[in-house]
Order: sequence, then structure tokens, then C-alpha cells
Amino acid sequence: MIKADTIRRIQDEARVEDIVGEFVTLKKRGANLVGLCPFHNEKTPSFYVSPAKNIYKCFGCSKAGGPVQFLMDYQQMSYPEALRYIAKKYGIEVEEAKLSDEEKLREQEQHQLTESILIANTAAQKFYTDFMLHHEDGKIGLAYFRERGFHTATIEKFQLGYAPDEPDAFTRYALQKGFQLEILKKAGLTSAKENSKLDFFRNRVMFPIHNLTGKVVAFGGRIMVKDEKSPKYINTPESDVYVKSKILYGLYFSKNEIRKRDECLLVEGYTDVISLHQNGIENVVASSGTSLTQEQIRLIKRITNNITLIYDGDVAGVKAALRGTDLILEEGMNVRIVVLPHPEDPDSYIRKTGSEKFLQYIREHKRDLITFKTSLLADEARQDPIRKAQLIREILESIARIPDAIQRSVYVKQCSERFDMSEQILITEVNKLRRKLIKESADARRQTEANIPVQDAEEQKILTGIHHEQVQELPNRTEILEREVIRILMEYGTRTLVQGDTSITVAEYVFESFEDNDLQTPYLQKVFAYIRNECKHGNIPDEKHFLQHDDPDIASLAVELLAFPYSASENWWYKFQIPVPEKQHAFAQDVQSVINHYWRHITTESIKKINEKIKEAVDSGNEEVLANLLQYHRLLTQQKKELSKGSGTVI
Ligand code: CTP
Ligand code: MN
Repeated sequence: MIKADTIRRIQDEARVEDIVGEFVTLKKRGANLVGLCPFHNEKTPSFYVSPAKNIYKCFGCSKAGGPVQFLMDYQQMSYPEALRYIAKKYGIEVEEAKLSDEEKLREQEQHQLTESILIANTAAQKFYTDFMLHHEDGKIGLAYFRERGFHTATIEKFQLGYAPDEPDAFTRYALQKGFQLEILKKAGLTSAKENSKLDFFRNRVMFPIHNLTGKVVAFGGRIMVKDEKSPKYINTPESDVYVKSKILYGLYFSKNEIRKRDECLLVEGYTDVISLHQNGIENVVASSGTSLTQEQIRLIKRITNNITLIYDGDVAGVKAALRGTDLILEEGMNVRIVVLPHPEDPDSYIRKTGSEKFLQYIREHKRDLITFKTSLLADEARQDPIRKAQLIREILESIARIPDAIQRSVYVKQCSERFDMSEQILITEVNKLRRKLIKESADARRQTEANIPVQDAEEQKILTGIHHEQVQELPNRTEILEREVIRILMEYGTRTLVQGDTSITVAEYVFESFEDNDLQTPYLQKVFAYIRNECKHGNIPDEKHFLQHDDPDIASLAVELLAFPYSASENWWYKFQIPVPEKQHAFAQDVQSVINHYWRHITTESIKKINEKIKEAVDSGNEEVLANLLQYHRLLTQQKKELSKGSGTVI
């Protein structure tokens, strides 16, 4: 737990333009900076950063927040991770808050457990490597790798090793070194069976699996001779330290090259990654035989948007490739597929051809989604209309997963040309599928909180099935004015209005004018009540308080209202001809003008309602009610007249 003081300091010192600027190219535009939004695909920048307010907002997908929020959203950091990241960047010392003894103990235990497992893994890796390179009985492992053509430098780089053909060589060694049996079992190095002290890996060549920082989190152990009875590979069982679906083999060694080449090659096996590296192709990772997960794809997405799947050309390989494609498309990334001539895998193929020919093959056989799927359709099946329809459907299903509308339309066009089908029919079909997908993922999200691709305005248009110009729904006048009321509370709430020798804060002034009245727009009511309550207790929140608020609804409303007050709503203002306050206006005039407009509007609305009632009363001939209504009407009209004069009582 980080101390509250430290958190405040971090939040004060973090500069949004620094943090965002690490990941997004920003250009100056007036007082703000703009760039292409990292949260959704776009061609023209709608992502704004306001250094003055220390905030970003995308007007395309409406993601918004401060520096901490950005790291949480974009880098998927947890709150404390984001804080620590910023602290490190700015050299702020992180002071830890005192936890309760029990909490402290639990945290320490968890931390120590993780650390201990990592230390045990490192010891094991050294043991296996050392045994292979320097022990007589280990030569068999080294011979195996040599046979496969791995050079010493490669073996050292990937820290390969060999687990002895003995029941408990490593466990005995580790216990003697002082490791606890319990830790060895938790690390999966020693058999988890009760009372057992046997090694988990025996007589296998060892592939350590590294996390992003290069620590060994697990091992894959390969059998050296074909044996029907035991599996080719066994892997460390999953634990807090090793979650298979969140690890990509080789990412630690490949991340720099992936960034440099702006492309990630994705293969299936450990040996594929190692072989390609040895041949100078270093932008490659492996999913380790399991089907690709969304988490794994997101690890890549942090570095590049381009993934090339390289699979064996057999049925299983093609199926795996297809599953991978859809997930990658859903992330808004570009995917290409290369199928190697069966039964080659990248390792065997590059050994046969060398790196130049290998790269040439990749270049020439890289296919995009449609070409790949089409090529699956054998020539004779091409004449079969049922099979053809099925295939087109499959392709459309993939296209529907692409979040970017423009990219989707490019694929649709391609598909319509390839199959000689009407583009309009295909568009309709894709939209239908997309609606279904979005509904499904919204349902799923409600259950799992999984993320779905962000929709942009273009997308909305297509989703609603409207291809012609659609008028954007405008917020009503009441809502606009209510937003303005909230804005002045947030922006100037703590400032003082002076009149003669009395003074009053803006917040007090606003709430006095409201008496017991409330706003009408539900999402604004909530914030209004919150501010009113804070003020009642004597602590009027300032601008920063709202911008850094824990409640994301409040924080993002603050961003909208404070950081870029008119950029999004220019049209509304124009539409309703509400004078846009100029920057240089004194805040008091701004406050006065907002409150004035607001009450004038409310009064006008009330008068309209009274008029209706007066009509009813006239019709029903109820004189008494009519008299009351008319008096009320006079009162309101009087009030409106005064408001229109723009009373100058407060300066
Ligand atoms: N795998 C596994 N368990 C198995 C088989 C495979 O965990 N029983 C994983 C391994 O990560 C392996 C990958 O799936 O690297 C791909 O499997 P495969 O193609 O069979 O192995 P290769 O990596 O090609 O290994 P080799 O070249 O040594 O046969
Ligand atoms: Mn292989």
C-alpha cells in the first residue's frame, strides 16, 4: 500500500503530456496537444491532451482521464502499478502505508512466495544448464541440442539445459542449498505428491520460460527419444507465477526486434523460436502449442499492430491459424498468415532452407485473411454453391470482428470482387453479424468485464443501419444548461464573489439560488447531490479534486466539462444560440451568466406548463384554480423579466 501523501505527490507531479507522449505522437494545437487516439483506430486525430488541466480526452471514443488513468487504460496497469511507474519516472520516493499486521503478513507472504519461487527457478535453470555443460551424464542432453543444430551461443542465450535421469538429483541439491521443500513443490520443480521428494523433470532437455523481465517463471521439458507412453513435452504446472495464457515464449528475447520491425512472427513451438533466432530472425514468439489467447495478443499489441502467423500446412495447423486470426482482428490488429509446406515447421524449414530463403518464402506466401480463407476452398468445391456460400459466410464472420469501419469496408470490397457478389448484400450481412457480435460481447462483458473493441462514430452509423447522413442526437437545452451549472461548480466552486462587504463562495451562491430544487438529468443529479453534500460539510471541492476523482463518472464528466469545454459541444451552443463565454471574461460574469440562463430557461419551461394548465382551467371553467394559476403566471413572468435584465447584484 502506497501512502496517501505519496499518492498525492505522484498525482501532482505526473504530467499528462509526458506520460501520454511516451506512447502517442502528439502535435501542438493551440493550448492543447493532439494525436491519433491509441484506444481506437482512426486516421484523423481526435485525441486531445490538455497540459493545463493535466488531462486527455478522445472525442472519437470518449476515453478520458489523467496520467494515472492513461497507464491503467493503455498499459493495463493496476492502480498501484501506474503510481509506481510514474514515481519511478519522476524519481519520487514511494512511501508505503502501514498495513494492519495481518494484511502486512499476507502481502509479505505472497511477495516472498513469488520471490522464492523465482529464486528456486533460477537455481534450477543454472543446475540444468550446468549439469548439461559440465557433467558427464549431462552430455546426452548437449548431444541432443547439437544434433538439432543449436550453437553454444544459442544454448547460453536461451539458458537451455538437461534434467538428469535420476529420481531426485535436483531436489536433493536444492534442499542441501537450503531451499524449502514446500517452495520447490510450489515452483513445480519437485513432484507435488504428498511425501514425495522426487524431481518433476527427469531425463528431459529443458527450455526455461521467461517473463517480460527475463525471470524464469516455468520450464518446458522435452523427451529426447520418441516414446509413445510419455508426452513429448511436460510443462511446469500453472501457479500465481506462471499463467500459461498470459505468457508468450520468447517475448523477452524478441521484444526489441518486434518493435524495430513493427511486426511479430507467431509460431507454435519453443524450438521454432530458438531456431529462427539462431538464424538471425529475432522478431518471433511462440504460443507454446496452446491456442492463442486474447491476453497473449494484447502483450504483442503493446509493441506492434502487425502479427504474422506461421503454421504448419496440415489440418491442425490451419485450424489453429484460423482461430488465431479472429482474435487478432478483434483487437483491431493486422493479421497475415503463412502456411509452410506440410510437414515442415519453422524450425525444420529454416534448417533446410536457411534464413534468406525462409524470409523469401514468408514474403511470397504471406496472405491476408480473405486470400487465405479463399485458398482453403479446393478447386472442385469452388463449383459447389453450398460450400461457396458457407465459405463466404465464414469470411464475413471474420470481417465483422474488425473494429475499424474503414478496414472492414476494404475487406468487404475485396470479398465482393473475389466472389463476384454484390457489395451491398455483403455490407448488410456484415452489419448484421456485427450487431450480433457486439450484443454477444456486451452480454459477455456484463459477466466477465472483458473488453470489446471500441466503437467509433462511423461504426455507430453503420450499426444503426443508416448509410445516409444521420443527424446526431442533440442533448436538450435543459441538459446543456445543467452541464454548465455543474461546470461552474467544478471550475469556480471555491472562488469568492464579493458584494459590498459580504462575500460568498460560488458554490454557496449556486446552491442558494437552487434552494431545495434539483437538476433534472439523472447523471448530473448524482454529481450535483455529491457537490451539494460536500459543501454542506464545509469542504468545497476544487477543480483538481474532480479531475482526480476516484469515481470514474465524476472524473470523466470533469474532464469533459473542464478540459475541453467547448470543443465537443460547439454545435450545441450554436444550435441553441447560447452565448459562449469568452476566456477573458471574469469568472464572476461567467457564473452570473450561467445561473441567469439556467433560471430563465427553467422559468420559461414553467410558464409553458402553466399556460397548458390555464387552458385546461378555462375549458373546465374552474374559476378558483384559474385565479391561482394566473397569479402564479404573473409571478413567473415577473421573475423572467428580472432575469432577462441580467440583474447585476453580484459582482
Ligand atoms: N507442446 C506441449 N506439450 C506437448 C506437445 C507440445 O506443451 N505434449 C507445446 C510446446 O510448447 C511445443 C509446442 O507445443 O514447443 C509445439 O509442439 P510441437 O510442434 O509438437 O513441438 P516442436 O516445438 O516442434 O518441438 P520439436 O521440434 O522438438 O518436435
Ligand atoms: Mn519442431
